[in-house]
Amino acid sequence: MKKRIAILPGDGIGPEVCEAATRVLKEIEALYQHEFELIYGDIGGISIDKNGTPLPQETLSACRQSDAVLLGAVGGPKWDQLPGDQRPEKGLLGLRKELQLFANLRPVTIYDALADSSPLKDEIIQGVELLIVRELTGGLYFGEPRERKIVDGEEIAIDTLQYSRFEIERIVRKAFQLAGERRGHLTSVDKANVLESSRLWREVVEEVAKDFPNVDYSHMLVDNAAMQLVRNPRQFDVIVTENMFGDILSDEASMITGSLGMLPSSSLSEDGPGLFEPIHGSAPDIAGKGLANPLATLSSVAMMLAYSFDLYDEATSLQDAINEVLNKGYRTADLTNDSNTLSTIQMTDKVIEALQNNKQNAS
Ligand code: NAD
Ligand code: IPM
Ligand code: MN
Repeated sequence: MKKRIAILPGDGIGPEVCEAATRVLKEIEALYQHEFELIYGDIGGISIDKNGTPLPQETLSACRQSDAVLLGAVGGPKWDQLPGDQRPEKGLLGLRKELQLFANLRPVTIYDALADSSPLKDEIIQGVELLIVRELTGGLYFGEPRERKIVDGEEIAIDTLQYSRFEIERIVRKAFQLAGERRGHLTSVDKANVLESSRLWREVVEEVAKDFPNVDYSHMLVDNAAMQLVRNPRQFDVIVTENMFGDILSDEASMITGSLGMLPSSSLSEDGPGLFEPIHGSAPDIAGKGLANPLATLSSVAMMLAYSFDLYDEATSLQDAINEVLNKGYRTADLTNDSNTLSTIQMTDKVIEALQNNKQNAS
């Protein structure tokens, strides 16, 4: 199979985890006789420095001409003082909007071997298997007006939380579909006791639910959801929520697995290339030190293989390889207090070895 993949390493640990992904893609290409054409693009802070903009046209067209996009991370202290519309993060937001990647899937999977890495008790995290479906191109992140102004001599800042019925319906429908393919339960998370946009959200959920009689669903207020995620995360199958709630709840949920460095994501449109990226950021505190956990990015590659290319054997083999290295006790520094840890490159070596063994055992 021949596929073109746009790789956007970005800032901080982005290039380190993308290097891990590239090595794994090349291994899968060789082991399974595929042809992956990797094209590289600038995004984020590094692109501001190089091109004067966080999302150059060339990057956007490279993504549009690809079958899938892999992104590392954007942002860092160097660019934190720039005005909002010129920041590195604006590059990622622009990419999501331009490619209409409205559905952000963030699966939270427990690895048995990592039970000790989670700050939560074993009995709380055992058996957790949930999926956060985050709306990604609307809400507070994109609403207008967004401005600073002086009113009656006082400086004020405005962000706008706006959702259309159309935007809500397409993400809710997607979440119902996914729930139908899983354990058949959907929790819609909102703040309908306060926000008008959440009240419209609830109405739409009620309407869409009629088309999915096999999915049982409920509504939950976001503050309660934040608490329930640590009290009893097993109660959730699919969570659907708006952009900012999904951002916050998914970082929280990552600690069920033990580290932010474990959680992958895919961002999908109705058609066109999907974007695959770890949910973590550029981790400036560990960038350039070889400490980054590459597994969130490698799991994102597994999602790409399955969702964008229908390469299910390859995706499963990669996910199994990740499981195996953890079962063997290999850990990056974020996963343990032990001093005996692997670097980003060493962890990637172990995953590649496991991939090779899986292939050998299968043939
Ligand atoms: P962060 O996710 O970068 O880091 C939070 C903490 O988690 C840090 O201590 C970091 O060292 C650790 N961490 C994150 N990923 C890790 C990994 N793979 N392995 C080991 N440890 C890991 O969040 P932050 O510090 O709030 O943000 C830093 C920058 O990243 C900001 O500029 C922010 O805007 C940006 N950001 C980008 C993305 C993205 O590109 N998708 C996502 C989140 C934050
Ligand atoms: C994420 C990040 C981004 C977001 C930032 C970098 C714009 O936190 O992907 O979770 O808030 O969506
Ligand atoms: Mn985030």
